[in-house]
Amino acid sequence: MTRLSKYKIMNYKNPDENGYYGEFGGAFIPEMLYPNVEELEKNYLQIIESEEFQNEYQDLLKNYVGRATPLYFAKNLSQKYNTNIYLKREDLNHTGAHKINNALGQVLLAKRLGKTRIIAETGAGQHGVATATACALLGLECIIYIGEVDIKRQAPNVARMKMLGAKVVPATSGSKTLKDAVNEALKDWINNPVTTHYVIGSVVGPHPFPDLVARFQSVISEEIKKQLFEQIGRENPDYVIACVGGGSNAAGTFYHFANDENVQLIAAEAGGFGVDSGKSAATTFLGTLGVLHGSKSLVMQTKDGQVIEPHSISAGLDYPGIGPFHSNLFREKRAEFFSINDDEALQSAFDLTKLEGIIPALESAHALAVLDKKEFNQDDIVVICLSGRGDKDMETYLKKLEVSS
Ligand SMILES: Cc1ncc(COP(=O)(O)O)c(C=O)c1O
Repeated sequence: MTRLSKYKIMNYKNPDENGYYGEFGGAFIPEMLYPNVEELEKNYLQIIESEEFQNEYQDLLKNYVGRATPLYFAKNLSQKYNTNIYLKREDLNHTGAHKINNALGQVLLAKRLGKTRIIAETGAGQHGVATATACALLGLECIIYIGEVDIKRQAPNVARMKMLGAKVVPATSGSKTLKDAVNEALKDWINNPVTTHYVIGSVVGPHPFPDLVARFQSVISEEIKKQLFEQIGRENPDYVIACVGGGSNAAGTFYHFANDENVQLIAAEAGGFGVDSGKSAATTFLGTLGVLHGSKSLVMQTKDGQVIEPHSISAGLDYPGIGPFHSNLFREKRAEFFSINDDEALQSAFDLTKLEGIIPALESAHALAVLDKKEFNQDDIVVICLSGRGDKDMETYLKKLEVSS
């Protein structure tokens, strides 16, 4: 390996000028989407790095979203695992998850691009609610695509989107979950290229979306560094842990640590019923190189390239791919990936609730479950991203309670 290529691989944070993280990324899109994606690619960095944009965005993050979110030392959880566990409380954001960091940023960007109509996909409903919220605030039309299965399992969020004025459109193909909602949103964008911006909710999609979303979510690790320094006099933890659906909360949690190999990155994927069960969403365990939703990444697919329908109890992790940022971390062994099954995530959600009085989102519970899979030292500093709150998952939690009582 030449020194130059070693240097290139060491930059895990951002893609190269063609939108690649190592061999993953790029923009594989139908011709009709070229103008939209090109317009975004040409303008996104200039706009989001401008002082005027940053003033408005930072003001909203602080006074509307409620940032900075706390970095909470979880004493009881730390005692149980005999280490030092800090929770990054993205669940305390306005609308209840990290998704608002990106949704607000993208809707502000869309306005500056002259767009009047916003579309988005959602799985757990958190990105849908966040986008509908940003559109209500900033006065744009909003259409949210969501799988029929997810409409049922995340009903409270569907009601919130409607109250916020969004039109909610069911995706009825495939497994009727997140992947199918993305397909519908992409179709809409092809049909409405001039007026519409597609607010993608994770670090997936064609370049520049993975980079754009990672930058908006990078506030998570920016704050962790500051807060850890204030609390214990050092900026870097030993470990950062986050769940990965497409990978946006994990990208934000890893971002400012990614190029510092003293910090170990741990990602939790949804194992569903188990990686060998045929009902799983653990992409790094089951995926191969492919193209999904406009980028080259690891994808769960048959030998002929047909996408395998994923399964997870958690709507936000029920996706047959991961973003190119994470495929690269996996390929380069920069991050360690764990597969967490449905029942393990449920157990971790109940454990956190009992020990700390915090009901986590089912997605975030996958990150917490890593604590049962990996040994940490007594003096390790372990930061876990609590990406969202569990209100939307109460029906699933109550069902579990009824079965166990
Ligand atoms: C609370 C929460 N955490 C995590 C995720 C997974 O998405 P990502 O991997 O993009 O963070 C979702 C998706 O909806 C979510 O709602």
